Amino acid sequence: MANVKFHSGRQLPLEMHKVRIVQKLFLPPVEARLRLMNEAGNNTFLLQNKDVFMDMLTDSGVNAMSDLQQSAMLRADDAYAGSETYNRLAAKVRELFHMDYFLPAHQGRAAENVLATAYLKPGDVVPMNFHFTTTKAHITRLGGAVEELIVKEGLEAVNDCPFKGNFDIPRLEALIGKVGAEKIPFVRVEAGTNLVGGQPLSLQNMREVAAVCNRHGIKLVLDASLLQDNLWFIKQREPECRDWPIRRIVDEVAKLFDIIYFSARKLGFARGGGIAIRDKADEVRMKELIPLYEGFLTYGGMSVREMEAIVVGLDETLDEDVISQGPQFIEYMAGELHRRGVPVVLPAGGLGCHINATAFLDHIPQSQYPAGALAAALYIAGGIRGMERGTLSEQRNEDGSERFAELELLRLAMPRRVYTLSQVEYAIDRVQWLYENRRLVGGLTFVEEPSVLRFFFGRLAPVGDWQEKLVAKFRADFGDSL
Ligand SMILES: Cc1ncc(COP(=O)(O)O)c(C=O)c1O
Repeated sequence: MANVKFHSGRQLPLEMHKVRIVQKLFLPPVEARLRLMNEAGNNTFLLQNKDVFMDMLTDSGVNAMSDLQQSAMLRADDAYAGSETYNRLAAKVRELFHMDYFLPAHQGRAAENVLATAYLKPGDVVPMNFHFTTTKAHITRLGGAVEELIVKEGLEAVNDCPFKGNFDIPRLEALIGKVGAEKIPFVRVEAGTNLVGGQPLSLQNMREVAAVCNRHGIKLVLDASLLQDNLWFIKQREPECRDWPIRRIVDEVAKLFDIIYFSARKLGFARGGGIAIRDKADEVRMKELIPLYEGFLTYGGMSVREMEAIVVGLDETLDEDVISQGPQFIEYMAGELHRRGVPVVLPAGGLGCHINATAFLDHIPQSQYPAGALAAALYIAGGIRGMERGTLSEQRNEDGSERFAELELLRLAMPRRVYTLSQVEYAIDRVQWLYENRRLVGGLTFVEEPSVLRFFFGRLAPVGDWQEKLVAKFRADFGDSL
């Protein structure tokens, strides 16, 4: 957002866009929200969108598109093979990352599947600052293991570290020394580290990771799905880059990597994905998997209309007014909640406002999924759909025991340019009310637990009758308000 000062001295995030298409919202009464949450197995993924007032589940594929993206979709070149749309997208990715090759994939996890299938063998280890759910699932499915090497500040909910997504370089060196470079098919850097609160890495840290990889001859891969937020934070927080245009930061980042993959549901503000590749040999290794899993090489499972929107969206990623909107709204929400005493992750990252469920519900044991319970409670309290990012989102250990997450977070994602500040104020208000009534909230237990990615479609039940008590308190406090 541009530098606009308010005469009042109050600094509010100011939208540098106007809204020209709207969608009507509904807020079911609290009694209906209780019923709907239970019909959805207390899993916010299983709610119907029509029953959700503020959908803060994710920013994936639900950001508002610009007029330029919408109009670009009309010129899409429908062809199974050799479409002009593909050429435009490949050229845009090349322009952005300066890599010669581009393979399309239908979304981020599809790119992860191709990458893992091409490079992983049983017993391999993939070091990364932090895992993402689908990344880890593909690596472990192939008999590999993930090693998380994030700096210790990244796993603390509150501190003043500007780059909580950084790699711990000495631990990376030590790991390579221990397992040997030949067991490491690649090192993965995740920009805007999703599961620890959308926290960025510094350009300096990426350079240090690249130097280690170069010394040991290990390939370096960037998951750029959340790069747009990370670029903004580098510009804001890294003194060297303060006066640089975003374009220059992208150049400096991209030149460090051998492969850059992304979910275009996030980067590019549309729906799709892809893999940019520096060397021919890597392209050859992954190329034949695209027609097998995705679709022909010039669409990779994407609609050509979406591909045209991604081309424009990637350009918009270089526009500070566009990429600052999310982080600034998130900073506002986290700051307001913090001011009201609600425990949130600070400094605020990208992607969404993250509530620290461990501190919010310190009476609920991790075995009863405090972040999942908080997600269910917030839907009941306000019709707001967040996403559990804690133990529920983990995979069980091989022996079937729980792997307790380092952080129990409720993520309230901020889809870009979708909600107004008064809607964000409403969300702040309902979270605050819930915090004041937190002792009423109890835990959850699984009634149906899938063995893979259980958070997506597992079903849970409340432990005890806490949800009915929460509804009764809501009625007592809010009268006939929705
Ligand atoms: C960092 C990161 N990597 C990969 C993915 C997977 O992308 P997709 O949802 O398009 O499959 C996501 C999605 O949220 C992500 O945040």
